Amino acid sequence: MTSPGPEREVNTDDETSESEPGSESGDSLSDVTIRRAERADLLEVLGIEKTCFTEPWPYTAFESFLDEPGFLVAVNEGNVVGYIVADVMPNHGRDLGHIKDIAVTPEARGIGLGRRLLQRGLVSLSFSGAALVKLEVRVGNEPALSLYRKMGFEPARRVPSYYADGEDALLMVLDVDAWQD
Ligand SMILES: CC(C)(COP(=O)(O)OP(=O)(O)OC[C@H]1O[C@@H](n2cnc3c(N)ncnc32)[C@H](O)[C@@H]1OP(=O)(O)O)[C@@H](O)C(=O)NCCC(=O)NCCS
Repeated sequence: MTSPGPEREVNTDDETSESEPGSESGDSLSDVTIRRAERADLLEVLGIEKTCFTEPWPYTAFESFLDEPGFLVAVNEGNVVGYIVADVMPNHGRDLGHIKDIAVTPEARGIGLGRRLLQRGLVSLSFSGAALVKLEVRVGNEPALSLYRKMGFEPARRVPSYYADGEDALLMVLDVDAWQD
């Protein structure tokens, strides 16, 4: 896996996915802190990753992003409840941010954490010099698609059979200068 993330499948079989949103970890956004990821967070991040995706990133993939300002965790009462992984690459004078991974633990979904992580990730990418930000998303991942659209991402192109199971990806982009939080 050269670029961990895009090939993964969203896991819809987890037992906790029917929990009342926000019922266990962090039913109030004011209780949640978003900060840079640290090595001590990685096992919890990995646990969420395995809950959310059928082809999760390995520990070493997360480890390799520890120095990235765009690797953030959401923490509630000392527990990691979500994360975003993003980085910036040079791109012919217009540095390109890439949202590589974002997930919120099933028990904490639907209360605005995904939106907050994405906003903070975009701010971090902007500070790091990104002029454009891209991401790939499964065409059938409605919650993620809706989140990205609301944040201002626009579809750039459809990538046929991008994922290992044959599902297409939608490549979406955001012009950071035009982005309004
Ligand atoms: C995508 C994900 C990160 C959203 O996190 P979340 O904390 O539940 O999202 P929020 O509560 O911040 O919701 C923000 C917006 O996302 C969209 N959204 C969230 N859950 C949704 C759902 N079940 N159905 C449709 N849209 C949804 C809505 O547009 C929502 O805005 P609204 O509250 O004004 O309706 C979360 O569902 C997740 O972790 N999914 C599994 C991992 C994944 O698919 N990651 C993306 C890979 S590309």
